[in-house]
Amino acid sequence: METMQLEKNDTSGVYAKREISLVRGQGACLFDDQGKRYIDCVGGQGTANIGHCQPPVVQAITDQLNQLMICPEIFYHPNRGLFYDALLSALGPAYNRVFLCNSGTEAVEAALKFSRFLTGRTKILAAMRCFHGRTMGALSATWNKHYRQPFMPLVPDYDHFPYDNIDKMTAKIDDQTAAVILEVVQGEGGIYPGSTAFFQAARELCSKHGALLIIDEVQSGFGRTGKLFAFMHHDIQPDLITMGKSIAAGIPMGAVVLNQDVPDLRPGIHGSTFGGNPVATAAAIASLKFIQENHLVENAAEMGAYFVDQLQAIDSPLIREVRGKGLMIGMELKQKVAPILAKLAEEGVLALPAGMNVLRFLPPLVINKEQIDQVIAATRKALAE
Ligand SMILES: Cc1ncc(COP(=O)(O)O)c(C=O)c1O
Repeated sequence: METMQLEKNDTSGVYAKREISLVRGQGACLFDDQGKRYIDCVGGQGTANIGHCQPPVVQAITDQLNQLMICPEIFYHPNRGLFYDALLSALGPAYNRVFLCNSGTEAVEAALKFSRFLTGRTKILAAMRCFHGRTMGALSATWNKHYRQPFMPLVPDYDHFPYDNIDKMTAKIDDQTAAVILEVVQGEGGIYPGSTAFFQAARELCSKHGALLIIDEVQSGFGRTGKLFAFMHHDIQPDLITMGKSIAAGIPMGAVVLNQDVPDLRPGIHGSTFGGNPVATAAAIASLKFIQENHLVENAAEMGAYFVDQLQAIDSPLIREVRGKGLMIGMELKQKVAPILAKLAEEGVLALPAGMNVLRFLPPLVINKEQIDQVIAATRKALAE
C-alpha cells in the first residue's frame, strides 16, 4: 500500500488509475501485491499477446542484457538483421524494409512523415472513431475530440470520413492525398471490424490517386485477430504497416514495415536514439518465434470464436452487442462500463473499456477454455448484480 501512495503522490496525473498494484505475471494470469490472482483480459493494453514472462523470451532478454544494452543505429547490431529477416519472412515477399522505434505512436508518426516525404503531399485521411496515438501527428489523425480538443490547433491537412463507408471515403480521397491511415479493427474506438470491400476499396483508391495506404496494426498485430496481421483477413497489401504493443513481448518497441513498391527513404529524414535497441530486438525475435512455435495465431482464432460465442450466450438486458475478431473482443453495453470493470476485478478478471460503454477483452493469446469460462462466469455475475 505504501508504494501505491507514493505513486499517487508523485504521478503526473494524466492517468485515471484503478486501486490495484500488479507485481507478477504468468501466462494469461496476473497477481497483485496482496497475492490475488486475475485472469488478464487487459493484456498490457494489447502488449502481452504471448502471455506474461514466457521463459524462452525472458531468457533471450536476459542473455542480451549481459551482452549489450544499447547500440545506436549508426552501427550495425546482429539482432536487427535477424528480426528484419524473421518479420519480413512472415509478411511475405511484398515487404522489404523495416524502420524501428519505441512505441505505437512513434510508428504512426514515422509512417505519416514517410508518406509526406515520399509523395510531396500533406493531406492525410483517417476514419472517424479511429485511434492512432497521442503525439501531434498521430493525434491529428486520431478522431476522439476528448484527446484532440485541448491541443488545438493540430497539424493541418488532416480529414476524416466514416469508417467502413466506401462512398464517403471515395469522396474525400484525391490527387492531393499523401496517405490514408486505417485500423483493420478499430480498437480504442469500440472494437469495430471493417469489411473486406472497404479495405479493398481503400487499396484501389490509394493506388489510383498515388496516395499511400497505411494500415495501423499497433493493436491488431502479432496474432491478435486470428491472423498474424489483421490486414491478412482482407487480401490487401498496404504500403506501410505500423506495429507496436505486442511486437516485443511488452518491452517498448514500434516498427514501420514498407512495401517493396514504396520508393526509397534517405538518411537523415527520420530517426530515433533508442530505435532498434538490442534488448528490444532480442525480445522481438524471441516473441515472434514463440508466437509461431506455439501456434498462437491459430489459438487466437479458435479461442476468440469460443469467447465470442460464450459472451453472446449471456442473457442480460444490459448487453447491446458482442463483436470482434479473434481475441480482440468488445461487448457493447447499454450503460457505462466502469462499474462492470470494477465488479469484474472483484471476481478476479481484469478487462478494459473502449469508450464509455464497450467492455474490451484483449487477453494473452495463450488463454485457454477453462480461463475463458472463468471470465464468462465473472461477466455473467457482474452484469447480473
Ligand atoms: C491502433 C493504435 N495505434 C497507435 C496506438 C498508440 O500506441 P502507443 O500507446 O504505444 O503510443 C494505439 C494505442 O492504443 C493503437 O491502438
